Amino acid sequence: MMTTFASQDALTSPSVARNRDPILAVLRRVLPLAGTVLEIASGTGEHAVHFAAALPHLKWQPSDQDEQALRSIAAHRAISGLPNLLAPLSLDAAAPEWPVVQADAVVAINMVHISPWRVTQGLMAGAGWVLPPGGVLYLYGAYKENGIHTAPSNDTFDADLRSRNPEWGIRDLEAVADLAGGHGLTLVERIPMPANNLSLVFRR
Ligand SMILES: C[S@@+](CC[C@H](N)C(=O)[O-])C[C@H]1O[C@@H](n2cnc3c(N)ncnc32)[C@H](O)[C@@H]1O
Repeated sequence: MMTTFASQDALTSPSVARNRDPILAVLRRVLPLAGTVLEIASGTGEHAVHFAAALPHLKWQPSDQDEQALRSIAAHRAISGLPNLLAPLSLDAAAPEWPVVQADAVVAINMVHISPWRVTQGLMAGAGWVLPPGGVLYLYGAYKENGIHTAPSNDTFDADLRSRNPEWGIRDLEAVADLAGGHGLTLVERIPMPANNLSLVFRR
């Protein structure tokens, strides 16, 4: 189904302007030299535009489960006119089947802590399914390590997330890595990022 949009559908998120270049620096290094990157939970679509523009050798496939997000991604895509930015897909990471059978890399930014745990379970199962051997799953967000927040501000952030939705919350890095391992994905890099976030790179 085609997602309809108008330019006023193009939403903006202030955090994207802050984190897009530090994330891009990691993506440039870890993503493959060719192929399709499946972005899960693309949100406004601003990351998709920024990364597709900076990485013209890759096809960027944005997706989200939320209708408003899909309209925003479609609007940003139309404004950008980027040939390597594909139309957004309606994709619920928790669904047992994804509308994509193959991707050379999977990227999910700020989703694991802002969705129920079953969504991360679905993300790992789906990534394990669509990625080829050696394929990269890239995650960005806040994590606890050994059950401890990496900064006091993350403690406050975690409490705020849980008050908004008891099923949300900052996850233990070890639990995420264990879950990934069960789907054939090995944590190969943990990169500290600005504002007490981490980049996590998994390989199938
Ligand atoms: C905090 S926003 C992050 C958006 C974007 N990645 C960013 O960093 O600006 C969380 C996103 O996760 C999406 N999301 C939540 N549950 C999801 C699911 N089950 N499948 C796919 N996307 C989901 C939401 O619709 C939302 O766009």
